[in-house]
Amino acid sequence: MTIIKAQEVIKNEFQKRGEDYPIKDGERTLPGKYYHSEEIYKEEIEKIFYKYWIFACRAEELAEAGDYKLVQVEDESIIILRETETEFKAHFNVCRHRGTQLCVEEKGKFENNSIQCPYHAWTYGLDGKLKAAPMMKEENGFTKDKCALHKVHIHNWEGFLFISLAVEPIPFEVQMEGLMGKWADYNLSELRIAHKIEYKLKCNWKLILQNYQECYHCPGVHPLLTQLTGVQSARHDFEDGAVIGGYMELTKESMTMNGEAASKPICDVDGDDIKKVYYYSVFPNMLLTPHPDFVLFHHITPDGPGKITNNCYWLFHPDAIKDKNGQAGIKSAVEFWDITNKEDWAVCEQMQFGTKSIRFTRGYYSGREDILHKLDKELIKVLGHKDPHAEFDSDS
Ligand code: FES
Ligand SMILES: [Fe+2]
Repeated sequence: MTIIKAQEVIKNEFQKRGEDYPIKDGERTLPGKYYHSEEIYKEEIEKIFYKYWIFACRAEELAEAGDYKLVQVEDESIIILRETETEFKAHFNVCRHRGTQLCVEEKGKFENNSIQCPYHAWTYGLDGKLKAAPMMKEENGFTKDKCALHKVHIHNWEGFLFISLAVEPIPFEVQMEGLMGKWADYNLSELRIAHKIEYKLKCNWKLILQNYQECYHCPGVHPLLTQLTGVQSARHDFEDGAVIGGYMELTKESMTMNGEAASKPICDVDGDDIKKVYYYSVFPNMLLTPHPDFVLFHHITPDGPGKITNNCYWLFHPDAIKDKNGQAGIKSAVEFWDITNKEDWAVCEQMQFGTKSIRFTRGYYSGREDILHKLDKELIKVLGHKDPHAEFDSDS
């Protein structure tokens, strides 16, 4: 189906339902500098990535007490660890003696419940408290109490560990209001990582979020995907705040190479959810896609204005992962999304390139991209910038 034909189908569908289409065409996009400027990128890191709750890793990546993983957030290395069966902690990876990085291995286990600096052997508990500073007396104002590792706030939502580098972050439940009580039947904490692919992309982190929130591009970019979900079925559940998203209706059973379910529905998924695939952006660094039978999510790590690492995970129920007969289903879900991901990455990288042109000032959104316009406005507000929509009103 050509793009033009697909848009006619969409328009007709809206008209049949008596809804307005397009919602509102012609809103302006961000100026190109928002995808390329080092200065704006630095501001985004300080005002968003060092301040907001951001996704860090899955709880099951830290299977036992003492297991840790390092997460890099621009210049900051953060230690995420499991303290007990149910408790997690996060610390800045910085020794309180003279600032040495405590550990460099990306993953590992702290033996004896201790984190020891390799330089002069200051030793901390998993809770970050300084336990030993060899040969040092508590004098001249130095006390062990004052020298706990700098705390990073951590929150476990359904097996997804989020951190905030802010000294006093806004409550997790406030930033992530849209996630509260969402997908309770999916028991997301019970799921396990069946597969992971790391993608290195040459584009700005915002382009991936934008791409994820519109299916205007689907008819032309995703021939396989459009056979499995009706483009016209896209609906938004939430449009405000850090969590935005909606769902599309499945025309077959799931998003796999042949459209068949990759496994049984996960946990207690039932009713309408059997026919839905959700697409949620958890601003600023996670994209979450629950299907009836598995969950796909992306963890986006910016690495400069024009580069990101995108780790893509497929979560399945542990029974499906253990089942030898279930491997074909997992493979099919991985293959389908790997193909679809690469289709998206290609256009995002081309957009990164095109928006650098001296002739690109800013573009025009279609009504089907209204959520992107809202995302832009939110970004401008968070950065405290003058609204470029007003600034550029006279340009073309
Ligand atoms: S810098 Fe860590 S113990 Fe000296
Ligand atoms: Fe896409």
